[in-house]
Amino acid sequence: MNETSKNQKLNELKAQSRLGGGQARIDAQHKKGRMTARERLDLLLDRGSFREVDPFVVHRTTDFGLDEQKYMSDSVVTGWGTIDGRLVYVYSQDFTVFGGSLGEVHAEKICKIMDMAMKNGAPVIGLNDSGGARIQEGVVALGGYADIFLRNTMASGVIPQISAIMGPCAGGAVYSPALTDFIFMTRNTSYMFVTGPDVVKTVTHEEVTQEELGGASVHSEKSGVCHVAADSEADTLYQIRKLLAYLPQNNMEDSPMFPNSDDPLRMDEALNNLIPSDPNKPYDIKDVINLIVDDGSFYEIHENYAANIVVGFARLGGHSVGIVANQPAVLAGVLDIDASEKAARFVRFCDAFNIPIITFEDVPGFLPGTFQEHHGIIRSGAKLLYAYCEATVPKLTVITRKAYGGAYCVMSSKHIRSDLNLAWPTAEIAVMGPDGAVSIIFRKELENAADPIQRKAELVAEYKEKFANPYVAASRGYIDDVIEPKETRPRLINALAMLSNKRDGNPAKKHGNIPL
Ligand code: HXC
Repeated sequence: MNETSKNQKLNELKAQSRLGGGQARIDAQHKKGRMTARERLDLLLDRGSFREVDPFVVHRTTDFGLDEQKYMSDSVVTGWGTIDGRLVYVYSQDFTVFGGSLGEVHAEKICKIMDMAMKNGAPVIGLNDSGGARIQEGVVALGGYADIFLRNTMASGVIPQISAIMGPCAGGAVYSPALTDFIFMTRNTSYMFVTGPDVVKTVTHEEVTQEELGGASVHSEKSGVCHVAADSEADTLYQIRKLLAYLPQNNMEDSPMFPNSDDPLRMDEALNNLIPSDPNKPYDIKDVINLIVDDGSFYEIHENYAANIVVGFARLGGHSVGIVANQPAVLAGVLDIDASEKAARFVRFCDAFNIPIITFEDVPGFLPGTFQEHHGIIRSGAKLLYAYCEATVPKLTVITRKAYGGAYCVMSSKHIRSDLNLAWPTAEIAVMGPDGAVSIIFRKELENAADPIQRKAELVAEYKEKFANPYVAASRGYIDDVIEPKETRPRLINALAMLSNKRDGNPAKKHGNIPL
């Protein structure tokens, strides 16, 4: 064979490898309105940047006639490329080969690029579309999953890990995405569950569809497993590109700067009139966030889950920041189990990856009730407290209105190492709201009052005068300054610059014991 024919053979082999499970299965994938593994990578990555590894890998199984069915590259496409010019490692499960099922070599390919990503300090993005463990390979497939789970755990907090669910993801297979930092799902065509509808029917006699059991809506609204639900495969991939722009490559780096034309000294008068004069009236904290951060830069995570707290990334003066904000427009911004866990995980991500945390606080306290108590609001609230306490990245807090009770302590108070705590003149920092406080401390007096309603109104007014303001806290230094709302943007940008060399740490330990 001369050189030309050797090159020809190489090109033929590569072309065959790129065909995956063959044209008929590619057509079937398209007919279902889905892209192939390679088409997805082409959309995700910068044009022409994908470099595949292991295109010649084939499985080693001989049972159940598999020795007669070999597909080069097996059922996952792996390699690296760039997103906005920055290196990322990728794997994309190929449903056209054995339904994207995971066997020995499929797992080895994923582990190889995860090891490279760890060594070279770049994010890993996994595009999942798989029938789960390759049934013909038995325990070897299970071992392959466990090899990946271990790497997901070792990589946690070292490199960002992102999962997209683009088709089925069932059984133990869900636990690799679950161990990663962010899960994206495509509406109507992807689903995740530990046991599928048939098993559910056998065990619990419930009749449920795949979509009802584990579709994108369920996981982005009810379970919170999914961080971002997108309308199409293309949108899912676009959203991943957007998110990555806020993240550093690894835990030793800072996020990239995005200089922009939004003036760091901009003061928006609208902020001064945003808080309703009636403290029981809601307003949308996202209006506050959008008026303060660099124009149009807010990228929300978990938008439709536990909407009583808002989390997401944004930029301030070009710097990437994590935002955590109580949302008075939903359940009055109360902290409940879901909101506490949502925010705790976000705070820990930001801390692991050197992203400063900005907290906007307007919280009436923790949600009362038997459901919350019986389902462990004590443990969940402690998670958020723990996350804020252990975080050593720059922490800035702005109290816009209510900061009541334990929630005052939890929401990045000065006492738990927040670096700069500002309050607006509308802030009310107290053990509880005026009405509840008066009912408790003046119970006897109110019982004996000639006109209890009139007396209560007087006492509430007195309490408000004394405590429903930021100045008692400020007189003790619990608040560093009280500012006009319109000053917030320049003050926060100034504080980020002031804290740019911040060094803080925690005592040496194997690891802490966050209340899981
Ligand atoms: C081997 C598989 C497979 C699997 C699908 N295929 N799943 N091959 N192992 N797990 C093959 C099919 O034989 C078929 O091959 C091709 O993939 C496409 O599958 P279809 O069934 O034709 O596709 P579709 O109708 O779209 O259904 C997709 C599906 C279904 C819903 C995913 O295939 C399915 O239910 N598969 C089994 C799912 C499952 O129970 N997996 C094990 C879960 S337990 P041909 O040659 O016809 O194209 C698990 C444990 C992990 O994963 C534990 C980790 C700790």
